[in-house]
Amino acid sequence: MKIAIVGTGYVGLVTGTCFAEIGVDVTCVDTNNDKIESLKKGIIPIYENGLEEMVLRNIKAKRLKFTTSLESCLNDVEVIFSAVGTPPDEDGSADLSYVLEVARTIGRNMNQYKLIVTKSTVPVGTARKVRAVIQEELDKRGLNITFDVASNPEFLKEGNAISDFMSRIV
Ligand SMILES: NC(=O)c1ccc[n+]([C@@H]2O[C@H](COP(=O)([O-])OP(=O)(O)OC[C@H]3O[C@@H](n4cnc5c(N)ncnc54)[C@H](O)[C@@H]3O)[C@@H](O)[C@H]2O)c1
Repeated sequence: MKIAIVGTGYVGLVTGTCFAEIGVDVTCVDTNNDKIESLKKGIIPIYENGLEEMVLRNIKAKRLKFTTSLESCLNDVEVIFSAVGTPPDEDGSADLSYVLEVARTIGRNMNQYKLIVTKSTVPVGTARKVRAVIQEELDKRGLNITFDVASNPEFLKEGNAISDFMSRIV
């Protein structure tokens, strides 16, 4: 199976690397060019027990790739995990602008069925907003393509994230 992980921060990098480790073909996407260029060279921006070896092993096996362009890999993948940041707004609520920007990019570029999975920490009702943004973009393009939106919030414990992830795959 081929998947994309959008947002290669702490959650996205751990998730993408662990999926690659179990044999999934993973493309990690991030708008931060410096981060992506470093990752392509095997330079890991965070410390997580066992992560560096796992990233290097999966890059070598060609199961783990990095890009700044979601558009370039979107139509090669079946599932898109969105793990972008949701920083608190002034009133403490989650800022969904990055989550909805990813949804817009998907709607503007998808050409066949996709499953979109939100991993970011978001309030109840966000899946409906993600769905509406994607549908709005498809309508603008005059396309009738089915897609599903799911929520899979992350609860990794920093320092123990790999074993947490690996023991919780259903
Ligand atoms: N860090 C944790 O331990 C943890 C645990 C549980 C849940 N979460 C939640 O998971 C989400 C991600 O957290 P994180 O700590 O990995 O964040 P992070 O800030 O480390 O990473 C987010 C990444 O998303 C990228 N990004 C932003 N907009 C983008 C776009 N349009 N396209 C591609 N990339 C984009 C940023 O450049 C950044 O690298 C948040 O909602 C957070 O609340 C985090």
